[in-house]
Amino acid sequence: MPWYNENLDSDLEEELDHREITTGKFLDLGTGPATQAMWLAKRGFNVTGSDLSEAAIKRARTVYANEKNVNFVVDNILNSNLKENQFDYIFDRGCFHVLLPTDRQRYIIKIKQILKDNGILFLKCFSDKEPMQQGPYKFSQRAIRDLFSKYFWMDSIKETVYQGTLDPLPKALLAVMKK
Ligand SMILES: C[S@@+](CC[C@H](N)C(=O)[O-])C[C@H]1O[C@@H](n2cnc3c(N)ncnc32)[C@H](O)[C@@H]1O
Repeated sequence: MPWYNENLDSDLEEELDHREITTGKFLDLGTGPATQAMWLAKRGFNVTGSDLSEAAIKRARTVYANEKNVNFVVDNILNSNLKENQFDYIFDRGCFHVLLPTDRQRYIIKIKQILKDNGILFLKCFSDKEPMQQGPYKFSQRAIRDLFSKYFWMDSIKETVYQGTLDPLPKALLAVMKK
């Protein structure tokens, strides 16, 4: 998988260190191989990994059966059954940028519902600076601001790369926003 990263995403790690965030309830949205959920649990967060894919969740439950502080649920964020106002933090590393443009508004409203007040969304998506033709949707910083700023306070947004198995690493954005 091109996005596979056996380590905690270094941009998220930097943000957590910089903001001195060490505890709380984290959602790893679109958890896939669940490496991010696992590292967040190891750092002491109470983590839920969610994914549309039953196969991904079944695998994550098996592989990380002995991991403390993490649980996995099958959940489509567009029609989510996750309880409202429950997460301090949400990490989306590659879910939003695969959604159809017509589903983006629904996603944003759902994220707002399940985040606590002052909760933070860490959103990593492909940047429009990435020249690769195929792959997920790509976003400019302006497009992310336009989409989210009605509902969230944009704390920071930066150009980065998507650590994974591709060479060169695709260009990405990391946006950090507060409910
Ligand atoms: C690019 S992968 C990233 C996986 C993981 N976040 C990582 O960084 O390794 C995107 C994941 O989002 C999941 N996904 C796509 N649409 C979704 C939706 N509507 N709700 C929940 N998960 C979704 C996919 O099944 C896939 O596992």
